[in-house]
Amino acid sequence: MAVFACRSAFLGLAVVASVLAGAANAQLSPSFYSKSCPKLAGIVRSGMASAVQKEKRMGASILRLFFHDCFVNGCDGSILLDDTSSLTGEKNAGPNKNSARGFEVIDAIKTQVEASCKATVSCADILALAARDGVNLLGGPTWNVPLGRKDSRTASQSAANSNLPGPDSGLATLVSMFGNKNLSPQDMTALSGAHTVGRSQCQFFRNRIYNERNVNASFAALRKQTCPLSGGDGNLAPFDVQTADGFDNAYYQNLVAQRGLLHSDQELFNGGSQDALVRTYSNTPTRFSTDFVTAMVKMGNLLPSSGTRTEIRLNCRKPN
Ligand code: HEM
Ligand SMILES: *[C@@H]1O[C@H](CO)[C@@H](O)[C@H](O)[C@H]1NC(C)=O
Repeated sequence: MAVFACRSAFLGLAVVASVLAGAANAQLSPSFYSKSCPKLAGIVRSGMASAVQKEKRMGASILRLFFHDCFVNGCDGSILLDDTSSLTGEKNAGPNKNSARGFEVIDAIKTQVEASCKATVSCADILALAARDGVNLLGGPTWNVPLGRKDSRTASQSAANSNLPGPDSGLATLVSMFGNKNLSPQDMTALSGAHTVGRSQCQFFRNRIYNERNVNASFAALRKQTCPLSGGDGNLAPFDVQTADGFDNAYYQNLVAQRGLLHSDQELFNGGSQDALVRTYSNTPTRFSTDFVTAMVKMGNLLPSSGTRTEIRLNCRKPN
């Protein structure tokens, strides 16, 4: 938990920073590369298909990378930059360190894309397409991804620390952190449905299963089996016990049964403003699907503020 402790102190700064970085400034379009890189969608799809075939969780890991990219100065591939002596990147920010994964998958896809269309497609766009394909390969919806993003030449570890919500966040904080990105409470609740796939480390849900009251007792007992009171910080548990690698609406059914894994998850169904929507999604998978896609496109439209220097990175790990 310690890695997240400093975050609230930076919240005030985060609000100011994200207003300054706010408005989307360029027009993205699904057909952006239709002439310059007609094979792009197929290359990304097959790269993701082989990654997910090797390990289903990778679909989830890539989806999370996209979220963590977009919330920090817009969807600009900044999370993909490695630390160097002259660049303090986002990979070692609290929410990402020993947690964000899937970088090699993006590298492999980028190599294929470069072989087919040299210096044409941004890493940010590859990540956006890969996240869409990850969702779809795990059984979720598909959609047209607006394209034409550019890659950043820098990254911001401090913005990654202050802009991304933590597992102990309460509902008001979640609403405000998504609001800072012009995402509505409905967008926030729909996007959180991403936690129908993937895994969390014990350290992020330990307090919830041992100390909270609004948790299903049999669920807590099950999770305690592999998440001891002390030790085992990195032990993994699926967000969704029933369909761990299936992208469906089970996340919301779990919340209604007080089986949310993180404190922040259960905050969406704990007597507050999102209860009704959570119930709707738990009963109507098509509503979740539609709203999730809408919110993913909205999140994907977050771009760096105008005037920021950008480029088409040749290697996703370093500026040209
Ligand atoms: C609402 C606030 C959110 C909080 C507090 C939160 C927090 C977390 C935490 C703590 C983990 C576990 C990381 C680990 O154990 O290493 C996680 C995993 C994950 N998150 Fe979120 N998250 C949020 C929203 C989102 C959104 C909006 C998306 C995508 C649209 C997302 C996608 C994922 C995925 C797919 C995983 C599993 C990754 C894997 O298995 O590699 N999360 N999240
Ligand atoms: C707790 O989880 C069990 C097992 O999944 C479920 O049958 C039960 O309804 C849940 N309890 C509550 C109070 O929702």
